[in-house]
Amino acid sequence: MKVIANINFKGGVGKTTITWLLAKHAAEHGKKVLVVDGDAQMSLTIALSIDESSGEFVPGFGNWYENQHRARNRTLLDALDKYDQYVSGKIKHFDFPIDRGFIYQVAKNIDFIPSVTDLYWMELDLFNPENVKGFIQAILGKIQHSEYRPDVVFFDCPPSFTALSYSILSNCTMILVPTNPDVFAATGLRIMVEGLRHRIQPWPNPNVVVFMNKAGYRSDRGLFRETRTFMGFIEEAANELNTSGSSVNFLRDQYIPFRASIRKAISFGGFPEEFRHEIANLWTVVEAQL
Ligand SMILES: Nc1ncnc2c1ncn2[C@@H]1O[C@H](COP(=O)(O)OP(=O)(O)O)[C@@H](O)[C@H]1O
Ligand SMILES: [Mg+2]
Repeated sequence: MKVIANINFKGGVGKTTITWLLAKHAAEHGKKVLVVDGDAQMSLTIALSIDESSGEFVPGFGNWYENQHRARNRTLLDALDKYDQYVSGKIKHFDFPIDRGFIYQVAKNIDFIPSVTDLYWMELDLFNPENVKGFIQAILGKIQHSEYRPDVVFFDCPPSFTALSYSILSNCTMILVPTNPDVFAATGLRIMVEGLRHRIQPWPNPNVVVFMNKAGYRSDRGLFRETRTFMGFIEEAANELNTSGSSVNFLRDQYIPFRASIRKAISFGGFPEEFRHEIANLWTVVEAQL
């Protein structure tokens, strides 16, 4: 079971969108995927709750979320809370059942664990990050031994370092970082990778894979010069990080172009075919490095 954490401390770079498209693509090509919304801002959970074209609530998922998932204390936060009680000795076993109250089936080969807004406050007053660091390993262990056992788990991480993201990043196979062609991207990458390496101890040494999303590109002119310049800065940052002990791989050729049509990319519906080629390329390289 491979675990990909999609993270960047910058918001709006495409973590949620690309997580979803990669998961969908991998599922359509025979992988059994599990997508976990680890962001309390719930972008993915909300996107899946609303039908983009009609603007209406998707009743199947919405009802499940309220009545089976939240009302029955089957959320990620409930699981984390149980784990915290277990680690602090209040209960003897971490017995959180892995079933269809916890995991929603979105489509063939795609399972989904949504987020809850209450996760927002957890790192402030509920959990000691060191206590819950083993949570993801524990819950993934249970999932691995369940009938829902995925080939690949995708975590959509928040743009910050929370108790949950600490646990995710301590237990993933790959950290996948979408960047955008802007002047802050290279510095942001340096700060994030160095910061994670020092804060997550022991550092599990996952592969850090970086790619460009929202690249300026036109089929008749190729990559915009500005985008190429920023790619150069990111490549430099990746090389520097590599000489100081990290393993950062910038995928120069697997960029995703800026296209307004991606806004409607997340839904229960089909795959946005205008992104098929680029997402397929990105997935091929990502999968080879897992
Ligand atoms: N390649 C792209 N081209 C155009 N818009 C994009 C692209 N990727 C993402 N977006 C848009 O950018 C916004 C932020 O994307 P999102 O995936 O929510 O980022 P994050 O999860 O990093 O905050 C969304 O409105 C999304 O539709
Ligand atoms: Mg997001």
